Amino acid sequence: MTPDLMEAGAQRFEKIQVARLQGQTESGGRSAGYGRVLTPGQVDLTHGRILYLEDVHVSFDGFKAINGLNLDIAPGELRCIIGPNGAGKTTMMDIITGKTRPDSGQVFFGSTIDLLRHREAEIATLGIGRKFQKPTVFEHLSVFENLELALATHKGVWPSMRFALTGEQKDRVADVLVIIHLADAVARQAGTLSHGQKQWLEIGMLLMQEPKLLLLDEPVAGMTDVETVRTAELFLSLKGKHSLMVVEHDMSFIRAISEKVTVLCDGAVLAEGTLDQVQADERVIEVYLGR
Ligand SMILES: Nc1ncnc2c1ncn2[C@@H]1O[C@H](COP(=O)(O)OP(=O)(O)O)[C@@H](O)[C@H]1O
Ligand SMILES: [Mg+2]
Repeated sequence: MTPDLMEAGAQRFEKIQVARLQGQTESGGRSAGYGRVLTPGQVDLTHGRILYLEDVHVSFDGFKAINGLNLDIAPGELRCIIGPNGAGKTTMMDIITGKTRPDSGQVFFGSTIDLLRHREAEIATLGIGRKFQKPTVFEHLSVFENLELALATHKGVWPSMRFALTGEQKDRVADVLVIIHLADAVARQAGTLSHGQKQWLEIGMLLMQEPKLLLLDEPVAGMTDVETVRTAELFLSLKGKHSLMVVEHDMSFIRAISEKVTVLCDGAVLAEGTLDQVQADERVIEVYLGR
């Protein structure tokens, strides 16, 4: 599915680019920045951000769940989000994925895709994958079939007929099986996997869709220590190829994967920096100890 907006944007930029080549514009920096030709499906990273939120607000019955949230994520970054319960972490993901409409503010995917103009299903096809806390794999299908189904669903061909994988897609399944540590379990029924393995399978299902940005809400909750360590390795291996936003409470996990940590509180950013920096911040300590 080709989003109209991206197509329109790409065409507009193409015109600007042609005009520039023909020497018809003198506007310098701005058109140089915006003049890149985009092919449909490409995200414009000219401004060094894959995700950009500015002054976002949302209230539920007068309660300000998100209250002036500003946040941006660089391409390939693995950003950790922490914060007390009720800080607005899940609501932020709901806004990015189109599940919740903010009352005001801006939410952009790259420089050109206004996510507030897209519905939830469209946002998924634009390249934003989301993993909810509870694993939602198809228990009666095998590990392989779950990955196959994820691909078919994304391509919009299921369930019209039996979906036949191309050689390239089979390679992709094989690659993903290795990434998610389930290569030995390919024929197993998903319902028989451990909780951690189901979480990995669901991440694998997202990876089949080759998302540019992955949003993961409390991915290691309920995992064993060994599974948590392997999940940290998994996320580190995804970084760079994908951008990741990870919400977690498990600080040893955060320490293992984090570069930059954002602390959310009362629907806004309270602090940002390395884990050591934010843990030393008086305001963060106060919030975690409870006021
Ligand atoms: N759909 C909703 N309707 C009413 N209140 C909501 C809704 N979603 C979230 N909230 C409230 O918004 C606040 C932030 O919730 P949430 O984003 O789930 O926090 P976190 O994920 O950081 O624990 C909470 O007080 C929660 O009760
Ligand atoms: Mg939450």
